[in-house]
Amino acid sequence: MRFDFNTIPDRRGRDAIAVDGLGDGSGFAPAAPMDGFDSIPLWVADMSFATAPSVTSAIHERVDHPFFGYYEASDAYYQAIIDWHRTRKDVSDLVREHIGYENGVLGGVVSALNVLCSKGDNVLVHSPTYVGFTAVCNANGYKLVHSPLVLDVEGVWRMDFDDMERRIIENHIHAVIFCSPHNPCGRVWERWELERAMELFERHDVWVISDEIWSDILLDGHKHIPTQQVNDWAHEHTIALYAPSKTFNLAGLIGSYHVIYNTWLRDRVDKEQSLSHYNSQNVLSMHALIGAYSEEGAAWTDELCQVLSKNASYAYEHIRDKYPGVTCARAEGTYVLLADCRAWCDEHDVSYDEFPHRGWAVGVTWHDGALFECPGFVRIAVSVPYSQVVEAFSRLDKFVFGVSEARF
Ligand SMILES: Cc1ncc(COP(=O)(O)O)c(C=O)c1O
Repeated sequence: MRFDFNTIPDRRGRDAIAVDGLGDGSGFAPAAPMDGFDSIPLWVADMSFATAPSVTSAIHERVDHPFFGYYEASDAYYQAIIDWHRTRKDVSDLVREHIGYENGVLGGVVSALNVLCSKGDNVLVHSPTYVGFTAVCNANGYKLVHSPLVLDVEGVWRMDFDDMERRIIENHIHAVIFCSPHNPCGRVWERWELERAMELFERHDVWVISDEIWSDILLDGHKHIPTQQVNDWAHEHTIALYAPSKTFNLAGLIGSYHVIYNTWLRDRVDKEQSLSHYNSQNVLSMHALIGAYSEEGAAWTDELCQVLSKNASYAYEHIRDKYPGVTCARAEGTYVLLADCRAWCDEHDVSYDEFPHRGWAVGVTWHDGALFECPGFVRIAVSVPYSQVVEAFSRLDKFVFGVSEARF
């Protein structure tokens, strides 16, 4: 490996809610561990890996020119995005005018909803559901209608197209928040699935907000197909949202973007997102993106995906082989695994509320599935060095699923 994904960083006191945000009483963060256990950050979706060296050198270079006045996004910024989408996502028709800055993907989701819906409108999502969608829709007066994903006989999460259609018709739905790859289920949708979903959305005039923030994190050779590339209808009826933040661990720098091909739709979203005057890029974040979406950044991403594939496989196989009563689908993209612990809880007479605490007590800071509309599940972000993944599961063996239950 050319890059370091093995060092366990000490992020304490260094602006990281993953390590300093435990036990804040918000209901979002896990509880702090018992004395004697350090915490292994497996909850909030960031990584215990330093970002790519090409990102830090781009920022350093810019800081060495100590002028930070008003500026316009540069040609290099747009070109970096266009090249990244061409080389990593096989997109050949993206040009500068299709790209628009967004502070965050979730903010972009809200701007898109404000264009496509009236307040109080119903919006389709799949469940389990990324907690951020729930939060921003509730905060902005949109009602989520959940269509459950279902596990097929091979243990793969699939869309239930009949259920989606029924809910669209019954609830007069004309907008969907489509998560691709899917957080928290870890699915990288196949072409036939995307085609069926888009045919369904076209049939019922459902405009698509496609959150593709995870589209660079692909495990075991899975390929991401951008929603807009599925067919001509999807090309013109989709607002797609991207960011370097998941891939390069840059959430704290702020900086995302949308891709919209349809001129009317793009003008509406650009207008909507401009209204607050808060949606402006930081110059260091622009240079971070240029450093990220570079050849060296691509090499780093390839290695990252190898590391995460190994971590995710270890976690999946460990759960499958050692924890009767717990089921988990193999993650194809993202770095999160969703483990269904309901049967184990039922058998051991442990409530779904209490169960996550058993891991938190010993520093396994997985995320409570209740936040993702699936109580009794836990979401495990394996974006830590491999040795910490192994350590987390050894604690689970011993203190949660194994012989030491008595201590709770
Ligand atoms: C699917 C998805 N969308 C959006 C976000 C957050 O994006 P942002 O911080 O750019 O709003 C996350 C973060 O985990 C995510 O998983």
